[in-house]
Amino acid sequence: MFPDGFLWGGATAANQIEGGYKEGNKGDCISDHITGGSLDTKRKFTPVIDENNYYPSKVGVDFYHHFKDDIKLFAQMGFKVFRMSMNWARIYPTGLEDIPNEAGLQFYDDVFDECIKYGIEPLVTLHHFDMPYTLVEKYQGFLSREVVDLFVKYASTVFKRYKNKVKYWLTFNEINFATIPMGSLELLGIYNKQTTDYTEPDDDVNQRYQALHHVFVASAMAVIEGHKVNPDSKIGCMVAHVPMYPFSCHPQDMLLVQATDHSFNDFCGDVQVKGEYPYYIHKFLKDHNINIIKEINDDQLLKLGVVDYYSFSYYMSNCVNSQESEDINTTSGNLVGGVKNPYLRSSDWGWQIDPEGLRFTLHKLYDRYHIPLMIVENGLGAVDIKEPDNTIHDDYRIDFMKQHIVQIGQAIEEGVDVLGYTMWSAIDSISSSTGEMKKRYGLIYVDRDDDGNGDFARYPKDSFHWYKNVIKSNGEII
Ligand code: BG6
Repeated sequence: MFPDGFLWGGATAANQIEGGYKEGNKGDCISDHITGGSLDTKRKFTPVIDENNYYPSKVGVDFYHHFKDDIKLFAQMGFKVFRMSMNWARIYPTGLEDIPNEAGLQFYDDVFDECIKYGIEPLVTLHHFDMPYTLVEKYQGFLSREVVDLFVKYASTVFKRYKNKVKYWLTFNEINFATIPMGSLELLGIYNKQTTDYTEPDDDVNQRYQALHHVFVASAMAVIEGHKVNPDSKIGCMVAHVPMYPFSCHPQDMLLVQATDHSFNDFCGDVQVKGEYPYYIHKFLKDHNINIIKEINDDQLLKLGVVDYYSFSYYMSNCVNSQESEDINTTSGNLVGGVKNPYLRSSDWGWQIDPEGLRFTLHKLYDRYHIPLMIVENGLGAVDIKEPDNTIHDDYRIDFMKQHIVQIGQAIEEGVDVLGYTMWSAIDSISSSTGEMKKRYGLIYVDRDDDGNGDFARYPKDSFHWYKNVIKSNGEII
């Protein structure tokens, strides 16, 4: 069912696991300024770090000091690949330096060496919801063209340094996050000072699409540079793909599905895989009074810097409804909410669980792009109970993963080219949307709570042992 060499593994992000705030000369980054929260209490972004507030990313799950033990546990599960992100502010503390920070480079050398020791392929995201804080303050992040070159300098530095250690790269995590207001700060680095609300910031749509254009160019330039440094490297895009279903068979629902799909799911991938702005986006930009300023070579850069593979996160599907109706329930999600689908159940955080939607998505994407695909995030956020004997019986997570893996296997049988699967997350981490520890996704439990208590001890969950057998049997035993 699964091809030989299928890349089984798990995913993480620096801002959610690494910690090591200020260690090894790391500079301040966006995530260091975002407080903890919950489903009811929104996370806040504070330009000045307030000593009375709790900023969970500053410690994460202390991967910075535990990486050797963690990678050893990943190896015990038989991981073929470990997805992680690099913290830009560890390499260039303010983003502005001419010379990279050797301590930061050495840290990632040590992490990659540890992976290689166990035959684990590192899959590295250059930008996962973070950037040096100085670039936010000085430039409003990617709103300024200068940040394109600063990003390419960082990308080029790490491509050269790790050219013999890292083959698989991703440029920007969930790049389509920039098409909704929530992506303003975390993805683009734009901070409109009127609000500290990080999930619903004060939004300027024109600025957001301008900054997204700069991100497209930065990504394309990084791809070009990465291929120059190592022609064998594989550099991908990463999109949060949320399939949209019509709530009814009303033709207007279908048209709304298409429009939502275009603006949220398709736009960024189309640019990064096909190398140009798709036809449908021009009307959308016009209707929203968005006027993107491009430099003369930008279109050519986009053409030359197309990605080698398409990666995506998949957590849920959503419904859209074009008709007035009173008895419609809404649902939440990691990026976009929607109308509740009566045929699906939801996680405790309201995300609709839809394994078949993953098979549908794999077909849709392969049909659209004809390049290899990789699912680089898929998992269940849940409250886990650690028993007195330190076991964690997360059968709900096993069930979730099992159902999704079955659908991937089926899509492969039906002809889709899938390179690998890195579930979210290899180890418990800070939730990106709520800042909680209690919303756990990992195969490995970390002793840490929402108030900063706990000794960071690691405990394999039942899902750890189950996944080990899945990998060992190359997906035959699930
Ligand atoms: C994705 C992000 O949106 O979803 C991850 O790439 C994130 O960083 C994951 O952790 C799950 O979302 P959350 O908000 O539950 O952590």
